[in-house]
Amino acid sequence: MGRSFCSILLFLIFNLFFFSAYSIKVGTDLRPGFYSSSCPEAESIIRNVMRRAMAREPRSGASVMRLQFHDCFVNGCDASLLLDDTPTMLGEKLALSNINSLRSFEVIDEVKEALEYACPGVVSCADILIMAARDAVALSGGPTWDVKLGRKDSLTASQEDSNRIMPSPRSNASFLVGLFAGYNLSVTDLVALSGSHSIGDGRCFSVVFRLYNQSGSGKPDPNMDPVYRKKLDRLCPAGGDGNVTVGLDATPRFFDNQYFRDLVKERGFLNSDQSLYSGDPRTREVVERFSRDEEAFLEAFVEGMVKMGDIVSDKEGEIRRNCRVANTAVLGR
Ligand code: HEM
Ligand SMILES: *[C@@H]1O[C@H](CO)[C@@H](O)[C@H](O)[C@H]1NC(C)=O
Ligand SMILES: *[C@@H]1O[C@H](CO)[C@@H](O)[C@H](O)[C@H]1NC(C)=O
Ligand SMILES: *[C@@H]1O[C@H](CO)[C@@H](O)[C@H](O)[C@H]1NC(C)=O
Ligand SMILES: *[C@@H]1O[C@H](CO)[C@@H](O)[C@H](O)[C@H]1NC(C)=O
Repeated sequence: MGRSFCSILLFLIFNLFFFSAYSIKVGTDLRPGFYSSSCPEAESIIRNVMRRAMAREPRSGASVMRLQFHDCFVNGCDASLLLDDTPTMLGEKLALSNINSLRSFEVIDEVKEALEYACPGVVSCADILIMAARDAVALSGGPTWDVKLGRKDSLTASQEDSNRIMPSPRSNASFLVGLFAGYNLSVTDLVALSGSHSIGDGRCFSVVFRLYNQSGSGKPDPNMDPVYRKKLDRLCPAGGDGNVTVGLDATPRFFDNQYFRDLVKERGFLNSDQSLYSGDPRTREVVERFSRDEEAFLEAFVEGMVKMGDIVSDKEGEIRRNCRVANTAVLGR
């Protein structure tokens, strides 16, 4: 009785913390086809730049798709992530989860340049991230979907907020359930969105603690298939180069449910991935379902991406001319 009251109280405090501290407003006047008269070519321009980028470097699709997550979770989907540091503002690019890790910002620059040529001052960088993420998934053999548009770009960014919010690869499933709940994202949304790790790579830096010193035990994570661990030990030796990369699942350039089939065999790369199967019965049930039913995963993934795209900032915004710089900063105000 006392104990369940306590958990309810904790839950309320947690939600209050998220909804008030970051002023997240969910789903205000975004709609599909927002640019259909102001920039009818926008979606096809973005698709073409993404196709070229992924032909040059297949991994760039995953890297671009990840940007949506790191943008939307920090003060809403407002392209704050894309702002470079200035003498008076530490941006998000060098935040803990982003430094030496986020990449392919130049692909977004290329998209923006093409859009500014076709319809100057019309398409926000925040919407570019949403459309480019969708295209990256579609071009990797995954599903496609209609995106809602009409976001504005932020005037500033916050390294501090990113540091506080973005989850570490050491996170466990129960922590992530709580983090996502703060954005009205369900357990199913969490597991489906983690399925984004069906494409892309992680660095040895993000896994060595699991291989050699899980939770300070001096031992490897027991929730890892020994054959998979041998492979990772070889790729990521203790004291080796933390920047070496490894596929996040067995088919890292193909968007499918392989990620979940790996998790049920204890072949997840990140602790945060494996924990969804090994660490919490609520997420485990969903992982098992997605490992058996690819359609169910793809449907839930699309729903999760749309919901994540609905996290909007309630701060003032603009349509940036250059995704790396606020317009006002260019004018020197
Ligand atoms: C659930 C919590 C999550 C955690 C703890 C997490 C953490 C990570 C980490 C540690 C990496 C590897 C970074 C590195 O080693 O440099 C990574 C990669 C990646 N993440 Fe997540 N992530 C999460 C959710 C998501 C979501 C929701 C998305 C997108 C919808 C996403 C998309 C990606 C992609 C595509 C990559 C590979 C990027 C590349 O190859 O450049 N992640 N994530
Ligand atoms: C999950 O992580 C949180 C935060 O780091 C920690 O307090 C909690 O004890 C962990 N839960 C489990 C089941 O390991
Ligand atoms: C939270 O999610 C539920 C289920 O998806 C939805 O019905 C509800 O409108 C959402 N609440 C907000 C504030 O968006
Ligand atoms: C493992 O981690 C613990 C706690 O973080 C630390 O005290 C210990 O020195 C580490 N052991 C090794 C072998 O790195
Ligand atoms: C990875 O490379 C960057 C840039 O070259 C370097 O600053 C960083 O220390 C390296 N990180 C690790 C974990 O080795």
